[in-house]
Amino acid sequence: MTSVSAASVIHEMWRAVAGGWTSAADEVDERASAVTEAIIQGVAPRPGQRILELASGPGGVALGVAPLVGPSGEVVVSDVVDEMVAVAAERAAARQLTNVRPKVLDLDAIDEPDESFDAVVCREGLMFASQPVQAVHEIRRVLRRGGQASIAVWGPRSRNPWLGLVMDAVTAELGHPVPPPGLPGPFALDDERRLRALFVDAGYVDVEVTECAGTLVVASPDAWWARTVAMAGPLSVLISGLAPGQAGAIRRRLEDAAAPYATVTGLRLPDLALVVAARRPQREPREPERDPR
Ligand SMILES: C[S@@+](CC[C@H](N)C(=O)[O-])C[C@H]1O[C@@H](n2cnc3c(N)ncnc32)[C@H](O)[C@@H]1O
Repeated sequence: MTSVSAASVIHEMWRAVAGGWTSAADEVDERASAVTEAIIQGVAPRPGQRILELASGPGGVALGVAPLVGPSGEVVVSDVVDEMVAVAAERAAARQLTNVRPKVLDLDAIDEPDESFDAVVCREGLMFASQPVQAVHEIRRVLRRGGQASIAVWGPRSRNPWLGLVMDAVTAELGHPVPPPGLPGPFALDDERRLRALFVDAGYVDVEVTECAGTLVVASPDAWWARTVAMAGPLSVLISGLAPGQAGAIRRRLEDAAAPYATVTGLRLPDLALVVAARRPQREPREPERDPR
């Protein structure tokens, strides 16, 4: 699969679940609140700044950042799926946030000028880039000198049973790996050392990776599966093509897998994000120091 066709496959998968993300937007923001806080701390927004949110889905991070940059600042909230951007815009309008500008943008090729943002934020989206190296260079390009990026991706599959176990069950039932080879997946950037190197090699400085743990609470294995069907972009096409009986078999596998996480209030499934904070240097490599006068 070429990178161009892989990219369009991924984008369509996410378009297919835009409705699920719309319905669950507040619940997702609640679950990811610690990650959002870590991202926002990583960029420390100030009044008057311009901040870009990439792969925003319903825009949970932009909603937290917009009040901090105030009316003299601006938050561009963006996603490759126009329905996601529209929902983010609606949620900002409902909160009377007049400094949020929606835009359809692909994080693999960011259609914004060089050095046009003070900070770039992204919650659980970078791992879906078709070309992560290029995406990280693109983020650096749109940052001003000294600008800050703060980006969360999911950690290792084994430490994210809320999603890893579903992918294991689908893989076991279908008899081939999920996601298929050649497509980026939710755990594509799950290795802390390689994640750090991705940013260091792209010329960022002060690169720090921290772990941020959370919990997905769902009422039952059925609710867990229904949520996955509605929201898991990379699985959406596979799930809609399942033969009769296969979905039931996956459901039964999930019931077994869920047993260790059952509590009296439902399933408590751990999740782990890796949050990268990284800065674009003031000076490019091999660039002469600017005359201070
Ligand atoms: C797991 S969701 C996270 C959404 C949101 N950031 C949140 O935390 O609620 C991944 C998002 O990445 C978006 N996405 C996938 N590939 C993308 C790309 N190449 N450029 C921009 N957005 C992309 C999807 O449309 C989806 O909204």
